[in-house]
Amino acid sequence: MTGAVDAGAPGDGSAEPEPVEAEPVSRDAALIMERCDELATLSSNPEHLERLHLSREHAAANALVGEWMRQAGLSTWQDAAGNQCARLEGSSPDLPALLLGSHIDTVPDAGRYDGMLGVLLAIAVAGRIHSSGRALPFALEVVAFSDEEGTRFGTALLGSRALAGAWDDALFELTDADGITLFEAMQDFGLDPARLPGAARRRESLVGYLEAHIEQGPILEDLGKSLAAVTSIAGARRFSLTMTGKAGHAGGTPFEKRRDALVGASELVVAVEALSREYGTIGTVGRLQAFPGGVNVIPGRVDFSLDLRAEHDADRDTCLRRIRETAEDICARRGLSFESTEIYTAPAVRCDPGLRAAIESGIRSTGDAAPVAFHSRAGHDGVAISSVTDFAMLFIRCAGGISHHPDESVIEADVAVALDAFEAAVWAVAAGYTG
Ligand code: GLV
Ligand code: MN
Ligand code: MN
Repeated sequence: MTGAVDAGAPGDGSAEPEPVEAEPVSRDAALIMERCDELATLSSNPEHLERLHLSREHAAANALVGEWMRQAGLSTWQDAAGNQCARLEGSSPDLPALLLGSHIDTVPDAGRYDGMLGVLLAIAVAGRIHSSGRALPFALEVVAFSDEEGTRFGTALLGSRALAGAWDDALFELTDADGITLFEAMQDFGLDPARLPGAARRRESLVGYLEAHIEQGPILEDLGKSLAAVTSIAGARRFSLTMTGKAGHAGGTPFEKRRDALVGASELVVAVEALSREYGTIGTVGRLQAFPGGVNVIPGRVDFSLDLRAEHDADRDTCLRRIRETAEDICARRGLSFESTEIYTAPAVRCDPGLRAAIESGIRSTGDAAPVAFHSRAGHDGVAISSVTDFAMLFIRCAGGISHHPDESVIEADVAVALDAFEAAVWAVAAGYTG
């Protein structure tokens, strides 16, 4: 493994050693950091990073990542769902594959490491294994998933759901903010929606899935550690909500006669936080728009969102029931009506114990004798992939736990140690592989 600086053999004192230029922590890690910066330039918005599923920038990112995959010695293709894929054969052709990867779409005003870092670490691991000349007992594949965040079409994991064979044709009818359907967006991207089932992988063709990702929380930083294994990923449900009252004159309408949808929605937003705390869940209203939107008009309608997640699906669903009851109570008191449409649902999923042990052994190989493991409240492609193969994850410390924000950051030394650990995890999977 790279990363160690050779201090040279002890001298016999007869000659001064030649001065040695300081090496970066790891050339591979430095390259990964540069590539994260380069990918961050592929944005639909000149002011901030936003790369949406099936956009022009997504196509450019696939082309760039595909080029890096080929430079690493892999053969490449774009699958029928727009996932950028690559393969390194194992000790013989056509063996089942261990998948490594993450996603290359972003949230609006994103950081540059959520997803992208995992893709670039996967490429670097495959490149190291290719150049080692040692063959694995399985093939190694790298996937840059096309959609994990769900920013464009409101529902997440479209790339990994297609690969897992968990596709529902109703998804083609989803529309983006401009009214373009997913079906049309695929055609615009050069994909044939009729061929989408071709992206699905058979269980027998896969060994498992490993993903490296920034933690997106503060635990590692608080512990003073670079890396962790993941135990499970939260189950999430997302909703489009509407509260409707009646618009009216801001001056002429007395309070007793108002049916103000924004005041009702605001009460519910506060209740979402209180109930989430009570039930040990995490609830977020990330979007809220009042109509008609005049400064001197009582809001007659509010459209807003709800994202609710928890380690245990039962806690999340109990909290959801209480949120609904609270919405009904608010509406009864204020003369409002309430509609709710579920736009995304995913169960909580556990990492496979064997693959998680490989991740922990990878972490130990970097000098951390007692790796920590904890639950992920953030969603990841493993949620979808778990329906077709086992998965496990490696978490990397990020500054302040900040993510989904341009201040997202990682240090190069952590990337270097993550790369070593991720590579060692692949060899640990190989050591335990019985075919
Ligand atoms: C994805 O980043 C999610 O957890 O929402
Ligand atoms: Mn994200
Ligand atoms: Mn992510």
